[in-house]
Amino acid sequence: MSSPFYITTPIYYVNDVPHIGHAYTTLACDVMARFKRLDDFEVFFLTGTDEHGQKVETAANNKGLKPQDFVDDVSVNFRSLLKCMNFSNDDFIRTTEKRHFNSCQRIWNKLVENGNIYLGKYSGWYAVRDEAFFLESEIVDGKAPSGAPVEWVEEPSYFFNLSKWQDKLLKYYDENKDFISPNTRRNEVISFVKGGLKDLSVSRTSFSWGIKVPNDEQHIMYVWLDALTNYLSACDYANNENNMKNSKFWPADIHMVGKDIIRFHAVYWPAFLMAADLPLPKKVFAHGWWTNEGNKISKSLGNVINPFDLVEEYGVDQIRYFLMREVPFGNDGDFSKTQLNNRINSDLANSYGNLFQRVISMICKNCNKTIPQKPEFLNKEDLVLVNSLKDKIDDYRNLIDNQKFDQFLKNIWLVISSANKYTDEQAPWSLKKTDFKRMEVVLFTLIETLRQISILLQPFLPNTTKSVLDQIKIPLNERNFKHLENIYKGEEKIELPEPLFPRVQ
Ligand code: MSP
Repeated sequence: MSSPFYITTPIYYVNDVPHIGHAYTTLACDVMARFKRLDDFEVFFLTGTDEHGQKVETAANNKGLKPQDFVDDVSVNFRSLLKCMNFSNDDFIRTTEKRHFNSCQRIWNKLVENGNIYLGKYSGWYAVRDEAFFLESEIVDGKAPSGAPVEWVEEPSYFFNLSKWQDKLLKYYDENKDFISPNTRRNEVISFVKGGLKDLSVSRTSFSWGIKVPNDEQHIMYVWLDALTNYLSACDYANNENNMKNSKFWPADIHMVGKDIIRFHAVYWPAFLMAADLPLPKKVFAHGWWTNEGNKISKSLGNVINPFDLVEEYGVDQIRYFLMREVPFGNDGDFSKTQLNNRINSDLANSYGNLFQRVISMICKNCNKTIPQKPEFLNKEDLVLVNSLKDKIDDYRNLIDNQKFDQFLKNIWLVISSANKYTDEQAPWSLKKTDFKRMEVVLFTLIETLRQISILLQPFLPNTTKSVLDQIKIPLNERNFKHLENIYKGEEKIELPEPLFPRVQ
């Protein structure tokens, strides 16, 4: 029986069109989801859209649309992004769906039943752009710490008794060292919680686009309580009979988020869950932010990076590779076209692409378009290459489990470069006349290495690796990681290679 693996992206606000930041978080999840599937886990990969709240209501008003019509329109853009980036999510949740409404009502009722929600009055600062409340002491030059404008809000509100959960949260962080990653974020969250937690306003009355509070229709739920609950809605929390103790996928293995929303996921969310007697997710990973050629990305600067345009111009695997390779996941990074071009030309076209191209061409030219048969005997150099990936699969698992995507790729590229070096050194083209048998062994070794490289690269470069594995005739049902072990038997007919990556200027 395969183990379940549940991975989530944040659900995206639909007040805007998708940009590179949205593509980035989902890409990291897609890579993990694909990796786990190939490693025989039963994966549930969830993404979706966050459609309630003041920000979305205002965006709809500005367009002169009813909020529901507006979100129906914009949510489609996020679905298109999935297709464009070749994301393999298993479900797409919208917070305007019935299953989500039911699950929000249920968690609210449970929080009330457990005595964790009380009625009061909120007066304080609110930033619509962040959909977050701020203390006077947090305001910097009249703005939220993120730079978002704030407004003074005074309204009746329900409160969640967050302050009561401070010690329990700290104990949980202490006992579950991997719960928040990377470490810098963990330290940041711990010091925030140690600084003291105030009870949290969890309902609004001054606008209406949201999920109504059960038994008090004047109030709608605070958009973050609504949004976070999506992770449960998709596991059918509304109908689960045992407080998710018998759920197949809950608790989530990992919530992937950007660093700006770590507090919601690593403080409020576990507190809500504890207060509702629900199991806690195993990990929250916060990645960094991209800048564009050194500048902060913002609509007002007009430098938002559109993922649809990028894919159109460079190709989807090229963009997937660049985003995962360029910056250690967790750090901030800069998007530069020069760097993108360099990566495409040097790593993809000249290394992986070139290895494939030359090996297949040589086989076509010298071996009558037939991959040489698996030889009886491989010498030391051949074995070093052939064993360099399959013997290290546990290291690769470890890198993915720790979100070290760039390291994973770096390691594979070391093997690609060893394979190119091996080709130069063994010079199969000159063996043709002197030792035909040895030439066949060398070409076989290279094909076997390409097979393993391409199997391992599937999560990052799904289209290209499919093309390689198809061209070297690896059956579809022999592409999982467990098949790394079974050395290729060879003797397959192939055709002249189709180029993998065009060079860019
Ligand atoms: N709706 C909330 C999440 C609710 S989850 C229960 C939200 N949505 S968002 O659309 O504003 O942002 C979604 C994600 O995009 C966040 O993880 C954020 O970090 C990420 N990014 C937005 N801009 C980004 C960059 N410039 N770079 C990298 N990621 C960025 O927050």
